[in-house]
Amino acid sequence: MSGSEKPELIINGKRLDGRMPNQLRDIKIETGVIKNAVGSAYIEWGRNKIVAGVYGPKEALPKHVQDPEKAIIKCRYAMSPFSGVEDHSRSGPNRRSTEISKVTREVFENVVLLEQFPGGEIDLYIDVLQSDGGTRAAGITAAAVALASSGIPMSDIPFAVSVGKVGNQLIMDMDKIEDNYSDADMPVAISPRTGEILLLQMDGNLTKSEVSAGLSMIKEAGETISKIQREALKAPYEKILERYKE
Ligand code: CDP
Repeated sequence: MSGSEKPELIINGKRLDGRMPNQLRDIKIETGVIKNAVGSAYIEWGRNKIVAGVYGPKEALPKHVQDPEKAIIKCRYAMSPFSGVEDHSRSGPNRRSTEISKVTREVFENVVLLEQFPGGEIDLYIDVLQSDGGTRAAGITAAAVALASSGIPMSDIPFAVSVGKVGNQLIMDMDKIEDNYSDADMPVAISPRTGEILLLQMDGNLTKSEVSAGLSMIKEAGETISKIQREALKAPYEKILERYKE
């Protein structure tokens, strides 16, 4: 393969990393990783490594941003300059990180019970330490756990994942090389309790039937992701219970 030539992404039904088309990468989540935060989570999603931290609710500042009816969410997604294989020189906000911060904030505005904290502010930080495709989805999934672990009331714990297309084949949860050479990428965040779609973006083209098949794959993968999120939230309490048993 020469530098710019498109690699074969699916060979004999398997992907370059050995996954089946509908298979997620391995996901591990841990809570309580930032002691100063009111809630935090660390996620390893394939080769992605991401930390999410939550602060607040506190008084929204400056005062003119306050909403007397409900709290506001401030969200800052950032990719560390050493996280990827490209762009090592760049750090600080850019168009991409501003967009991801915005769509992530909108996901959580739909599930955090903001009316309980009028005039308040909740700060959500997502820092990508290592990236390999799908960081917005992994960041949202981690941030949901960080928020839930903070005790801030929410109607649900959302998850996010992306489905992509290579030729005519839909593939679950693309890594960076797949993302680079795929024909489409559709990151989606869902509230699993209601099935409500909280985020849907699309890069490339998918037909109507591919969108609905992709959403079905995402809902199925969501069962696995939600279970990992719940287990991460339960783990610290299970450790305490274990201690009582000894
Ligand atoms: O990470 P996500 O798939 O949500 O967003 P993207 O903009 O589609 O980026 C895909 C991947 O490209 C990221 O996960 C990174 O691995 C890589 N990337 C990078 O290394 N440096 C950037 N400035 C942007 C993306």
